Amino acid sequence: SASRTEHDKRAAAEAAVDRFFLPGMCVGLGSGSTAAFAVRRLAALREQGRLLDVSGVPTSRATEALARELGIPLITLDEHPTLDVTIDGADEVAPDLSVIKGGGGALLREKIVAQASRRVVIIADVTKLSPRLGTHWPVPVEVLPFGWRSQQQFLESLGARVVPRVRENGMPYLTDQGNRVLDCAWGPIDAPDALASRMAARAGIVEHGLFLREATDLVVAGPRGVEHRAR
Ligand code: A5P
Repeated sequence: SASRTEHDKRAAAEAAVDRFFLPGMCVGLGSGSTAAFAVRRLAALREQGRLLDVSGVPTSRATEALARELGIPLITLDEHPTLDVTIDGADEVAPDLSVIKGGGGALLREKIVAQASRRVVIIADVTKLSPRLGTHWPVPVEVLPFGWRSQQQFLESLGARVVPRVRENGMPYLTDQGNRVLDCAWGPIDAPDALASRMAARAGIVEHGLFLREATDLVVAGPRGVEHRAR
């Protein structure tokens, strides 16, 4: 049920913050509803006088606003080009800890922050677990507005059913960088590495939501409690 999922998201987020955020660290703050529970946990610990010297790089304007409102010290990647750890959510998690991200549209900053982090902890409820990426969720692909229809055709030629993301009012959805998002449904993906390479080689595709090697750890919560897995 919805409340079960909310409970699990929160349990995973809190367990990850308690275990992986240590005094003095520079951390990445993820985006989405699960990551928001982690930001709130950090704020709650600060209220108890703990982790006061932990500072964070937000992965989206939404996370930046939340962290600011909660009084969490923010830094930029320019000041701290390497981060100790990032805690972030995911849309789909495969057994090898490869994940799909970007349901919330923040995939580009999330990937930059993840690749700048020594450790990347994915937090999820059990509904995110999947035997193979693409089974439950399309891969969000961020494309430059210039020539985006050509990117749609290119992605269709790779076998995707492509849905250009729109806002509730029907206008195009734009990322924090002002780019468009094409949600690409491939179904279960056989060769994610090959697909990622094809997309990376294409001008106009800014980034895609396949995070194949970034995650180092998974904290997942379900009916049996909270589990930690390392890659
Ligand atoms: C944001 O762009 C995403 O990558 C999120 O991490 C992902 O969509 C998970 O979001 P929820 O925690 O809200 O399910």
